[in-house]
Order: sequence, then C-alpha cells, then structure tokens
Amino acid sequence: MQVVETIAEMKRVRKELTGPVGFVATMGFFHEGHLSLVRKARARNPSVAVSIFVNPAQFGPAEDFDTYPRDLPRDLSLLEKERADVVFMPSVAEMYPPGFDSWVDIASVTDRLEGASRPGHFRGVATVVNKLFNIIRPDVSYFGQKDAQQVLVVRKMVQELKMGLEIVALPTVREDDGLAVSSRNAYLNPEERKAATILHRSLCLAEELWEKGEKDAGSIRQQMRELIQKEPLARIDYVSIADPETLEEMDEVRTPALASLAVWTGRTRLIDNVVVE
Ligand code: PAF
Repeated sequence: MQVVETIAEMKRVRKELTGPVGFVATMGFFHEGHLSLVRKARARNPSVAVSIFVNPAQFGPAEDFDTYPRDLPRDLSLLEKERADVVFMPSVAEMYPPGFDSWVDIASVTDRLEGASRPGHFRGVATVVNKLFNIIRPDVSYFGQKDAQQVLVVRKMVQELKMGLEIVALPTVREDDGLAVSSRNAYLNPEERKAATILHRSLCLAEELWEKGEKDAGSIRQQMRELIQKEPLARIDYVSIADPETLEEMDEVRTPALASLAVWTGRTRLIDNVVVE
C-alpha cells in the first residue's frame, strides 16, 4: 500500500493505477462504516484509493475540528488489511495553501437540515470532495447513506458539473442496539452511549407509524419528538420527514420519504436517517 502526502505525488501514483479506480474519501478514525465502503471498493475495482483528511473547511468555528478523533497508525494498519492500493493523506497546507479562494457552493438542498444547522458545512464538503476527485480522478466513489444529505449534495455536484464518475451510497452500519456507527460515538460516555440509541428508536417509530397507516408527516414528527424528549440526556436539533431528493418537509407522507434527525446527546451531536418505503 502506498502512502502519499502530496498532490504532485498522488497524481504521479494515479497514472500507475490500472483499471477503474474505486475511491473512498474519509476523515479517518475508521469504524465498520468506513471499512464497509473500502471493502465494496475492493470487491468491485482493480484499484482502490482512500483519502484521510480532516477537512477544516467543513467545521464551523464552534465545532470539533481540533478535537476530532484521529488515529493514523491504526487507520493505516486497517487499510493494509483491507488491501487498499493507495492512501492519500495531505496536510491542511497542501489542500488549502495560502491564498486559496475557490469554493464550490451547491444551492437549495444545502439550505435545509444539516445545512441549516451547520452553515458553510456543505460548502466545505463540496469543495474538498471536488478537489479530491480532481486529484484522484476515480471512476466510482463510495459514500455512507448515514450522511444522506452529503450523498445528495455530492451526487448533485457530480451530475450538474458533469464530473463523469459514479457515486455509490452504501447502507448505514449499526451497532447491535441500532446506534449508527460514527467517529463521534467515541465522544460518548457510557450513559450517553445508552441514551444515544434514542435516535434509532425514534426512526423505528417513524417506520412503525407509517406501516400502521399514519400518513400525516406532522404527527409522525411530533411522536418522534415526544419519544426523544423522554430521554433526559437528549436534546433535539431537528426531526424531519422530507422528500429524499429535494429535502422539502412533507405534510402528507409519500414514499420514499427520508426520516432524519440530529440530536445532541450530552455534548455530542449525532445524526441518523432511514428511508421509509
Ligand atoms: O463524510 C466524511 O467523512 C467527510 O464529509 C468527507 C466526505 C470525507 C469530506 O471531508
């Protein structure tokens, strides 16, 4: 496995990769969700590239860029095991040199949900993903459905800017009790970890209500909120039942619908979603 730190070297290594290149963009601190993406890339492509870059541009000023969990030696050894061909791990100065001033803005879908709660987040995501695609030139790139809005934003960017690669979204990986795996789960103390199952439980409630015939999206959102409010360590940021393409909130549920939420558990903000079909 080649470990590459500069853009110039990555471009040189890219020329030597054979066949379709599968790419997984990450911020490191790997969990089973990341590894499921790398495994799929490995199973489907002759060459696999992975990036590890904690992207400052997608964190707000009061967010956790400095404390975001990092464990490079462990990440590299996991990638060796998964037989990645190349790992690109640039520095912040390499990706954002002094004077960097080119940003990618995707409108509308970024106004809602995560975009509304985290202004500027998707500008940072779209810019770095665009730049990584330009450097690595993958044929296909794999993303986790847990970040449903991110998948939507990246797909829209690739489609509208005619970037000529395929975006594949893979299912959310969950712990046995339903909690979606996430690097930020590392912040949770044992009590918060237990409380965090409320995200998945409330999504299950949304599915159950829909299956029982509830069509009123407002009522589903309300019942999800009431369930979450019973958990003393949880604080709701948003609860949404929306169109999965536009992210517009629904009045009456039409399937498919994206049920999604962001909930603070102690000082940790977690997100999750399911597609109700
Ligand atoms: O999902 C993530 O880890 C990040 O948003 C990504 C896609 C690697 C861009 O920094």
